[in-house]
Amino acid sequence: MLDLVVKVLQQSNMLTHKLPELMPGGFFIAIDVTCQKIIHNPVSARFYRIEAWKSLSSSSSPPPQFKVYHDGRLVRIEDLPIQRATWLGEEVTGEEYELIWPDGISKVGIFNASPLRNDNGEIIGSICTFEDVTQIVHMKRELNAHKLNLQEMIEERTKELKCEFEKRERMEREVAKLERLNVIGQLAAGLGHEVRNPMTTIRGFLQMLQYKPDLIIYKSYFDLMIEELDRTNLIITDFLSLSKNKPAELKQHCLNKLLANLFPLLQADAFSQSKQCIFEPGEIVELDIDPNEINQMVLNFARNGLDAMPKDGCLTIKTFMEGQNIVLSFKDEGIGIKPEDVIKLGTPFFTTKESGTGLGLPMCYSIAERHKAKIEVMTGPDGTTFLVQFPQLKGMNLL
Ligand SMILES: Nc1ncnc2c1ncn2[C@@H]1O[C@H](COP(=O)(O)OP(=O)(O)OP(=O)(O)O)[C@@H](O)[C@H]1O
Ligand SMILES: [Mg+2]
Repeated sequence: MLDLVVKVLQQSNMLTHKLPELMPGGFFIAIDVTCQKIIHNPVSARFYRIEAWKSLSSSSSPPPQFKVYHDGRLVRIEDLPIQRATWLGEEVTGEEYELIWPDGISKVGIFNASPLRNDNGEIIGSICTFEDVTQIVHMKRELNAHKLNLQEMIEERTKELKCEFEKRERMEREVAKLERLNVIGQLAAGLGHEVRNPMTTIRGFLQMLQYKPDLIIYKSYFDLMIEELDRTNLIITDFLSLSKNKPAELKQHCLNKLLANLFPLLQADAFSQSKQCIFEPGEIVELDIDPNEINQMVLNFARNGLDAMPKDGCLTIKTFMEGQNIVLSFKDEGIGIKPEDVIKLGTPFFTTKESGTGLGLPMCYSIAERHKAKIEVMTGPDGTTFLVQFPQLKGMNLL
């Protein structure tokens, strides 16, 4: 059947004259074995940006200005389809090449090539057809770029949402923590009052009885009972300070001076445990604080830091400005806090210490709340830093 088609085409000169012109695809032919002369049909000429039936060959000198790429790599002349077909006798099918001109124009085609032989089987040139897929490829690239853009946007938004979610969770935990503190504080305020009165009576009688001559042999027992009562009383005092209703007695103070007064006590504490304590006061503005409460807070943070460190560890206390905030920081070289414990910090009675009551941090959070300050904790295997961020009063100058 194919023979018949060829015969008809040959008889009508169709093959040589009309067919290349009628073909919807690109068509070009190397008419010498050196591939110096390559003639292009109208579709191919448009693709190569030349006039129809003119010669354009990468093998001629000088070669055309466009560069050819295959799979993203620059292609050498001898690796182009028509040259491979003519010089090596190779058949090329369905290979995609991109042509890029110096003015930025890019065209993409899918090429087939086949050598042309004479009756003796010698190669006399080659023929190449191609389909211009520039539009499809460019659209695909644009789509891919959009896809990448979208993916990046989705990833970014997901990250933002995750951050927001974590922030909200943290805030909800903080609120729940403070609410718990308030409930406990209010309960403590009522109970504390009721319990303290009988305790005072008991303490008074114990004190009186311990000096009775016939009870003097029990003096050590009396001392122990009074000590335990005092400890209980202290816990009740701590409890009471958790109450939100406790009025804050805030007065303008210099935080650095307050810390400087307290520092010898902290140093002595550290020294007795063969540890170090450093105080680095920064330039900060005055603050409205309750000095007693801040003292209590500093002692709690400092003692926790010292407790967490092995011998020779160093606790650094600093004050500094961060934007509009006055920051008080406690940095220890301790063992850090386990992630599962970080969320429990500030929960009354949460302690990992044998003799701890777990009221130190709840008190710190409660005091911070009364000072409108925020507590942040950063922890890792190299130690823990607690930051207390006080909001700056309006119109305050640096000290
Ligand atoms: N700087 C720190 N490094 C490591 N763990 C810490 C630090 N500060 C607090 N913690 C952990 O938080 C827990 C609770 O601290 P918190 O001060 O409330 O109670 P406590 O120190 O155990 O007892 P106390 O009531 O005597 O202060 C501690 O038991 C400890 O596990
Ligand atoms: Mg403590």
